Amino acid sequence: MADFQFSLDQLFRQPVIKITNDLLPMGTVLGRNQHCKVIAQVSEILNVMGVLSAHAQDLRSPVTTAGRVREAPNQYVYLLANVRRGRRGQVCGMLKVGLKQLFLFDVNGAMRNVSQAPSILDFYVHESCQRTGQGKRLFEYMLADMGWSAVQCAIDRPSGKMAGFMNKHYQLERSVPQSNHFVIYQGFFEANHILVNSKPAQRQLQLRNVRNGGGDSETDDQQLPYPWGSPRRRKF
Ligand SMILES: CC(C)(COP(=O)(O)OP(=O)(O)OC[C@H]1O[C@@H](n2cnc3c(N)ncnc32)[C@H](O)[C@@H]1OP(=O)(O)O)[C@@H](O)C(=O)NCCC(=O)NCCS
Repeated sequence: MADFQFSLDQLFRQPVIKITNDLLPMGTVLGRNQHCKVIAQVSEILNVMGVLSAHAQDLRSPVTTAGRVREAPNQYVYLLANVRRGRRGQVCGMLKVGLKQLFLFDVNGAMRNVSQAPSILDFYVHESCQRTGQGKRLFEYMLADMGWSAVQCAIDRPSGKMAGFMNKHYQLERSVPQSNHFVIYQGFFEANHILVNSKPAQRQLQLRNVRNGGGDSETDDQQLPYPWGSPRRRKF
């Protein structure tokens, strides 16, 4: 598990905390003079967990950093810790989610514009506690908190472990082929019906000025199908 030079018990009043783009745990009341200290601690945790996650997934650079979280108001990071482990407590998991505009093929091969797709953007459980149910614990917490179901989620470049995880815990195996890096499962469009623009996405794509501006990770233009977005690219 990931150790830090500060005690985690003040930060983690419960095992899972939710971080928003102010880099503070949601729902925690802090004194004015505590803000800077807590932001610094949260930033360090995000940066360390981001690097560990990137390493575990063979990525060239982290998808999650404090800087990126700060710039993304519709993204949230859930952190799981055990405050009783080690001298100061240890962080064992991180899950970053968000709402993304995605252009996705449905089961009939028609392109759909999903304006606020529930998306899994980064997920990591420390090697020392993988396969002990910590991932499910964190994921379930997130689903309940966001009001999502597993089949509603689009997953950004799931690893083999993630594919096994979704199959084991949510019986999700049959994906709908896409030309970008997101994986969705059969049932996605039914579960997200209120979010899907019923018009075919082709015209919107033609009108859209495709630019590769800021935003999250390496995914921005990859949300668009080729040839509007870039062709399939590896993360590393
Ligand atoms: C994917 C991940 C977050 C799951 O966390 P976890 O705490 O291990 O998950 P749980 O203990 O709740 O569930 C275990 C299930 O996940 C899958 N899984 C987890 N680790 C695995 C491994 N090393 N090899 C194959 N499947 C694995 C399996 O389906 C496993 O069930 P099993 O042990 O009965 O085979 C974790 O494995 C991880 O951090 N992997 C490295 C980073 C990564 O791949 N992230 C996904 C990015 S989309």
